[in-house]
Amino acid sequence: MDSSADLILDDRARGVFRVNRRAFTDPEILEKERREVFDKCWLYAGHESELAGPGAFFTRQVGGRPVIVARGADDRIRGFLNTCPHRGNIVCREGHGTARTFTCFYHAWSFNTAGELVGLPGAESYTAAFDRSAMGLRQVPKLENYRGMIFISYDSGICSLPDYLGEAQEYLDYMIDFGGAEVEIAQGAQAYSMKANWKLLVENSIDGYHAMSTHNRYFRQYLPDIGMDAAGWSGPKRIMGIGAALGNGHSMVQAPQRPTPLRGSAKAELEQIRANLVDKFGPDRAHRIADYTRNLFIFPNLILISLWHTVRTFYPVAPDYMEINAWALLPKNDSPELRQKRYENFISFLGPAGFGTPDDVTGLEGCQRGFATQQEFPWSDISRGMGEAAPTTTDELQMRAFWRRWNALMEGRSGPTDCRDRPEQSVAAE
Ligand code: FES
Ligand code: FE
Repeated sequence: MDSSADLILDDRARGVFRVNRRAFTDPEILEKERREVFDKCWLYAGHESELAGPGAFFTRQVGGRPVIVARGADDRIRGFLNTCPHRGNIVCREGHGTARTFTCFYHAWSFNTAGELVGLPGAESYTAAFDRSAMGLRQVPKLENYRGMIFISYDSGICSLPDYLGEAQEYLDYMIDFGGAEVEIAQGAQAYSMKANWKLLVENSIDGYHAMSTHNRYFRQYLPDIGMDAAGWSGPKRIMGIGAALGNGHSMVQAPQRPTPLRGSAKAELEQIRANLVDKFGPDRAHRIADYTRNLFIFPNLILISLWHTVRTFYPVAPDYMEINAWALLPKNDSPELRQKRYENFISFLGPAGFGTPDDVTGLEGCQRGFATQQEFPWSDISRGMGEAAPTTTDELQMRAFWRRWNALMEGRSGPTDCRDRPEQSVAAE
């Protein structure tokens, strides 16, 4: 039997959407996801600001493989599979740094930052058939850089990155332009793991419904304590913002920006940034950039959260275990004071001891534990807001968008996927 058949129940006419909990637990489904989803999509690997000059590199897991992303002596950014052409060892074991060569720990073959094999002990022991030029590091099939964001793909036939981003590209631009200057990844990453299926974090990252219940203390106590009006977070539907399907599994939640609690020079600096955005982009685009908060989800596993200027990816290790990386993406030109405020904002919610992340870990690990009952209780419900012409952030259209694309890929349908509940649904012009 096809291991992904009948996992999604999508009845647009009646407004019923269910996901079979086996999608979160079955090792065969994870294997199929690796081939049909992760091997066929563009995957965020990192940011060019992490590669400050020639020889700068970082290593991480991307799509189940260890990779090295390095800026060569020629300034070109390349992605390599982090495995030695000799007998397989990880070639670079550092997380990041600057290097002229990468030397394998095992037998000390060494490679330059363009991946060429430049040294091997005892070279004279090889025959004439040993082709040194074919023994370089293997590049990833595709690497593209969109405004500093480096994506890789293991599908050499995949469409261009801008085509892949489609409707999501405009919102990604807003995420990059908010500070009116180039952005960079602030040094350091939050790396953590969860005993939960990776798709639970997809859902959670665009789930406005859980915010007030799961993160009650942050919204009801912490924000008022620092001078933010919490009333706007849970009011009538009209101020809850929107949830939107952006095509091919990309989606977002978007809500009006709340007034900042900042005072003094940081507040004045923000006002100046806002004025500069108007000069640079005109009032309409400046409004769309600056006056909304968004969680933008890029299929299959990249989330950008504007409220905390966060970039996050996550990968499955096992059906019930994932590894997560989160970074702060901040404007380069901020004053040290504003930079500090943005940092504090980021870690107050998403840090390891923040008000948000530990709550979400608890929530998602709880779901995973609950899935042990799936024989008796096989379905999760994701139908909230299905009857609405314009679903809000607390509805679940943005999650259905993910699942519809996921389902299409798992069934081998790689063409465009209409992820909306109904054809006339579009992102409301505001
Ligand atoms: Fe790398 Fe032998 S495995 S040099
Ligand atoms: Fe949360």
